[in-house]
Amino acid sequence: MHSVHVDTPGGHYPIHIGRGRLDTLADSIPADATSVAVVTNTTVAGLYGDRVRAALAATGKAVHWVELPDGEQYKTWDSLNRIFDALLGAALDRKSVLVALGGGVVGDICGFAAACYMRGVRFLQVPTTLLAQVDSSVGGKTAINHPLGKNMIGAFYQPQAVEIDPQVLATLPAREISAGLAEVIKYGMIADADFFVWCETHAQALRALDADAIEHAVRRSCELKAWVVSQDERESGLRAILNFGHTFGHAIESGLGYGHWLHGEAVGCGMVLAAELSVRVSGLDRAVADRIRALVEAIGCPTQAPDLGAGRWFDLMRVDKKNEGHRIRYVLLSELGGARLQAVDDDRVRPVLPGGV
Ligand code: NAD
Ligand code: GLY
Repeated sequence: MHSVHVDTPGGHYPIHIGRGRLDTLADSIPADATSVAVVTNTTVAGLYGDRVRAALAATGKAVHWVELPDGEQYKTWDSLNRIFDALLGAALDRKSVLVALGGGVVGDICGFAAACYMRGVRFLQVPTTLLAQVDSSVGGKTAINHPLGKNMIGAFYQPQAVEIDPQVLATLPAREISAGLAEVIKYGMIADADFFVWCETHAQALRALDADAIEHAVRRSCELKAWVVSQDERESGLRAILNFGHTFGHAIESGLGYGHWLHGEAVGCGMVLAAELSVRVSGLDRAVADRIRALVEAIGCPTQAPDLGAGRWFDLMRVDKKNEGHRIRYVLLSELGGARLQAVDDDRVRPVLPGGV
């Protein structure tokens, strides 16, 4: 078992990474918890519900279940309210602990519910997708979507612990593995050139879920994310680099309608566009942008952006939390491992968009 630590003003907590962690979840439930509420979705409950029930029975505490419908389109007020209905219906008190069992959608909604319920109750992240294990479960960003913008309603709220069992990835569809790998390779691009090279040489092993390769990728990704969020929990500076490719990616996701492209697919394609923009604006070598495109392709994510229509790209990208005023700010690379946030005029961005809109 590996441990990585996150140290933020909002909380200090461990990330435990190890095969079989799902069966030892009781160890992470605080002794003074009055009850436990597992928030999950119908798919994950079907696959891992029995194991998690058995594991949590060892706490001797009452364990409640909240099952949400599966999908990004359900990351909404309605789902949040379903959680509150269940918690209030079961009269859960302030010493209850929530457990987010699922991918990034469940983790983000459950975390937000924990931040709001009775003005804040403790929660654990138990991520079951690769994307959630390497990114969304760490760092305390919680949110739901709004029809006008992704993750626009939320809070920074840190979990008590993150429990990662890489074995659960065995049931994840190949497309979801590729989407998660997009966030893995992102860390190499923004913060660790050696890790980027390692990803280039292990792309096929990662797609095939080679156990050692996946564990290394999860661990290194968590280390890099913990390093970033421990310095800048609330994204007043450094943390923005984690959004490399996301300005374009979020536009793809909301432009096509949530749920059509997976978040990681949109980010993968967005990183290709961000690398092209970096060649034009921040002096990134053309050869590095080509390697980024090749690696996004190698992990199985799309590299060709959809045509969202003239003007629409910019309308969508203007609804982004990184922006100040009406100027759109992009995370750009000057080299592998060197990222920064920069406002760029629309005219300089147009040539990298499909059809040069
Ligand atoms: P997801 O939560 O929709 O999960 C993807 C699919 O995999 C779902 O159908 C889910 O039911 C299924 N699934 C989950 N675990 C499984 C398993 N072990 N076996 C089989 N199927 C399984 O998507 P995601 O990619 O995990 O997360 C995307 C979400 O994360 C987006 O909403 C995005 O905005 C958010 N996100 C948040 C942060 C953050 O810092 N909070 C960072 C990145 C992404
Ligand atoms: N996934 C971006 C962040 O956590 O800041």
